[in-house]
Amino acid sequence: MSSGKVQQWRKCGTLVVLFLFQVQIFGFNVDNRPATDVCSTHTILPGPKGDEGEKGDQGEIGKHGKVGPKGPKGNKGTVGDSGDQGMIGKIGPIGGKGDKGVKGLSGVSGGKGKAGTVCDCGRYRKVVGQLDINVARLKTSMKFVKNVIAGIRETDEKFYYIVQEEKSYKEAVTHCRIRGGMLAMPKDEAANALIADYISKSGLFRVFIGVNDLEKEGQFMYADNTPLQNYSNWKEGEPKDGSVHEDCVEMLSTGEWNDSECHLAIYFVCEFKKRK
Ligand SMILES: *[C@@H]1O[C@H](CO)[C@@H](O)[C@H](O)[C@H]1NC(C)=O
Ligand SMILES: *[C@@H]1O[C@H](CO)[C@@H](O)[C@H](O)[C@H]1NC(C)=O
Repeated sequence: MSSGKVQQWRKCGTLVVLFLFQVQIFGFNVDNRPATDVCSTHTILPGPKGDEGEKGDQGEIGKHGKVGPKGPKGNKGTVGDSGDQGMIGKIGPIGGKGDKGVKGLSGVSGGKGKAGTVCDCGRYRKVVGQLDINVARLKTSMKFVKNVIAGIRETDEKFYYIVQEEKSYKEAVTHCRIRGGMLAMPKDEAANALIADYISKSGLFRVFIGVNDLEKEGQFMYADNTPLQNYSNWKEGEPKDGSVHEDCVEMLSTGEWNDSECHLAIYFVCEFKKRK
């Protein structure tokens, strides 16, 4: 056979096999189908069924299957053991601003400054004004101290001080008491003479002393509620109580005592015990 013929047979065979394949798949009746033009001279029928082939090698592992449907919800778990203590948390945020504090005490006055240079003093006027107020206050405070230093008298046991402010007897008692003393109570000639000299040297005529008969008329007592003992220095004709009540006692610049009206406002003399 020539090579061309062989080619033709092979071609034909392939077509026949294809044809038969089609017949098997689609169930066509071979007889109803005309043989191909190429193979018209030789009709090839299928042979008997061959022996069963050997078992093939195991195939390769297949691909992953599709993701399956979601499973049913599981049962609630049991409570587990308590865990260890957690770690310390983070530092918290910075707190809010605190309330304004209470105003502090005023400081000690500073020393005297150096003389200033010439300036536009408008801006210092306020400061100077405040200084004036402070100085005025200091002057008031110093007045009592200055008067005490200037006018004080003393014995071994006491200081005496004439307060040159007009006060009623009761106001005078209070005034001396809040300064730690008493309205003066001359209990002997020495003390009485000292106070008398103090009055006259101060250019005064009369001051309240700590003697009265407010409790019981005619029964004079010292301001410390002790009775007069074996000393008094009444002016001649006194005490006489008069038409108006004269239950308080003033000392005249002579050192003599005179009962007088308690509500009159006159100067007075305080005494302060020395500390032993
Ligand atoms: C009263 O007088 C007596 C005798 O003169 C004297 O001893 C006594 O100390 C006096 N009392 C007072 C409180 O001065
Ligand atoms: C004694 O006190 C009375 C009443 O205040 C007064 O009228 C009289 O002038 C006083 N006596 C003397 C000597 O000051």
